Amino acid sequence: MKSPLAVLLLTVATLATAALSPLWLRLHKDGLHDPANPGLAQLQEPAEALEPLPRDTAGNLVNWVRAIDGGAIAPRTNLLPETVVRLRDDELIIARYGSMPAVKFPHRQHTLWLDCSNCHEHLFKSRAGANRFSMMAILNGEQCGVCHGAVAFPLTECRRCHSVPNELLRRQAAATAATAAASSSVPARSASGAAAVATTAASGALR
Ligand code: HEC
Ligand code: HEC
Ligand code: HEC
Repeated sequence: MKSPLAVLLLTVATLATAALSPLWLRLHKDGLHDPANPGLAQLQEPAEALEPLPRDTAGNLVNWVRAIDGGAIAPRTNLLPETVVRLRDDELIIARYGSMPAVKFPHRQHTLWLDCSNCHEHLFKSRAGANRFSMMAILNGEQCGVCHGAVAFPLTECRRCHSVPNELLRRQAAATAATAAASSSVPARSASGAAAVATTAASGALR
């Protein structure tokens, strides 16, 4: 028969376990580690490592971009002192005016983790508009899908890539075209021609 103290301790232990892993599978249950391996006890449980980090709703439930931006983690950028760490901060619109909101690709959030050579030139040519993207290929694990759904947030998070309303792009393009047309000194007859050129230039800048 169990003493009240033993029951209490058991309850506390159970609560502690529950508190440790409300969201993350424990290692012996994750289907990857051998539960019979005594070495398992030496490993840190995912919950213990991930719990303090900013929460996400998908993938491994950590928002890694916020984790790095908020200073919760500060991953080492290089092992060798001679490695040149390269960052790039611009945003490219790589799909527009489809059935979905346009896709915005931010370089900064990627180069915080990756080197240019992880993507250029084998995955993507480093020239706006030089790549042909396809959602089908991405879902097949190519292009953005090489990482997203594998090591970065999963493809079910449509809006995190498809984040720019097409209407906003159209308004921006129209506004740029109007400004260009208004400030241009060309005769009225060719004003619409100038506007068309300006629209193309604006789309080019967005890409
Ligand atoms: C990792 C980024 C990423 C995620 C996540 C993502 N997409 Fe895409 N998607 C893209 C890119 C890049 C293209 C551009 C392909 C092109 O130019 O047509 C695209 C194109 C598309 C297109 C064709 C263009 C259009 O707007 O009609 C559809 C439809 C689409 N995605 C639907 C989805 C849906 C639905 C989801 C969520 C289940 C999703 N995507 C999640 C990156 C993503
Ligand atoms: C995660 C993948 C990835 C990484 C890492 C990456 N890029 Fe890119 N880069 C892209 C994509 C996607 C495009 C858009 C190409 C397109 O529009 O077709 C792009 C476009 C470019 C462009 C063209 C921009 C323009 O306005 O024409 C340049 C230049 C570029 N990258 C340089 C770099 C450099 C330098 C680094 C490292 C500091 C880097 N990239 C890291 C994916 C990446
Ligand atoms: C080589 C790996 C790799 C490729 C290829 C890649 N990504 Fe990412 N992406 C990452 C990583 C790593 C992160 C940061 C961790 C996370 O958010 O899960 C990230 C984050 C992002 C974010 C989140 C930015 C934020 O502020 O939350 C967007 C949007 C995104 N990627 C879009 C794309 C699109 C669109 C493509 C294809 C054109 C692409 N990525 C290709 C690795 C990649």
